[in-house]
Amino acid sequence: MADWKTRTKLIHEGVRRSQYGEMSEAIFLTQGFVYDSAEQAEARFVEAGADEFIYARYGNPTVRMFEERIAAIEGAEDAFATASGMAAVNAALTSMLKAGDHVVAARALFGSCLYVLDILGRFGVEVTLVDGTDLAAWRAAVRPGTRAVFFETVSNPTLEVIDIAAVAEIAHAAGALVIVDNVFATPVYSRAVAQGADVVVYSATKHIDGGGRCLGGVICGSRDHVRKVVEPYLKHTGAAMSPFNAWVMLKGMETLDLRVRAQAATAQRLAEALDGHPKLARVLFPGLPGHPQHDLAMRQMGAGGTVISVEVAGGQRAAFALLNALRIVKISNNLGDSKTIATHPATTTHQRLPEDQKRVLGITPGLIRLSVGLEDADDLLADLSQALEVI
Ligand SMILES: Cc1ncc(COP(=O)(O)O)c(C=O)c1O
Repeated sequence: MADWKTRTKLIHEGVRRSQYGEMSEAIFLTQGFVYDSAEQAEARFVEAGADEFIYARYGNPTVRMFEERIAAIEGAEDAFATASGMAAVNAALTSMLKAGDHVVAARALFGSCLYVLDILGRFGVEVTLVDGTDLAAWRAAVRPGTRAVFFETVSNPTLEVIDIAAVAEIAHAAGALVIVDNVFATPVYSRAVAQGADVVVYSATKHIDGGGRCLGGVICGSRDHVRKVVEPYLKHTGAAMSPFNAWVMLKGMETLDLRVRAQAATAQRLAEALDGHPKLARVLFPGLPGHPQHDLAMRQMGAGGTVISVEVAGGQRAAFALLNALRIVKISNNLGDSKTIATHPATTTHQRLPEDQKRVLGITPGLIRLSVGLEDADDLLADLSQALEVI
């Protein structure tokens, strides 16, 4: 319902009740659906109605509930769920591109997103990488024949904030579609569609699940684009979200707003406390006034988000010493979880990148990414402070 507020939509939007009137969303753990007649089967394959399903690779009632709920939150007309965030990134790009097309992307991307761009190159799509924070670079790179621009609205792990509205203006003038990976902004702080994004992609594995249980992803966009471009690609290539995972994501969404706002408040507090610490060379957090895109972050998202990156003075040895001294904060590589997680991008999530590329992106040996969870902020600060003492 268009006039419901976010928290109401996160709980009630998209619900489909069976004849039993169940309160909690049902898990329709079925790959297939029974037809009353051969004629009905035939008709459904020609065109399935809103409550008609064919095969879980094409759609499933539990998955559909998740798609409708996230589309409503995002302010998008429709959505298609995928098996993981990377399946969503891959499908968002591949479903609309062909050999000879040109894509402009920000170079500060998650390692697997860069890998997807490499694959596109193998199939004759030309990819130009730019400094996503430099609007002149976008302007110079976009040309007739540019079909899409792609960027993480807040980059992983150096937390560069890209100006969605400004890049969208440049892209749209050239006739290109704006595809954004909005994981770090989260659906709670997202205004991506209103700011000009045509396609918004999430790894649902992160804040949407929020408990580190399931993989999932989703592509949001106009009904035409989702149904005519994204759906045919995904339903024939098979990266469907499992109904069980969709159910976990639906339940995760009920608390998404509360969780993300609490995580962002704690992240703000930790970033302010850590900023200027003598053992840290840099504290990167869009919520800090010193962040290069602080004003943009406030305009675009209204908050700094739930992830902080810090650079330990003393390189990898010092970073590892800090990680190994943490007690509450866990060493892992997910984000958006209720548990606070510390990641060393240079040796894990971004290990594959050549050293010179890591240097350009600021993925230094001392960089640690902190995904702030739901623990008590005082406990987290005490844990980080004692670990910083060790190095
Ligand atoms: C920005 C970004 N995009 C996409 C993904 C991929 O998501 P998934 O692990 O669900 O495939 C991640 C995962 O870390 C990410 O950080």
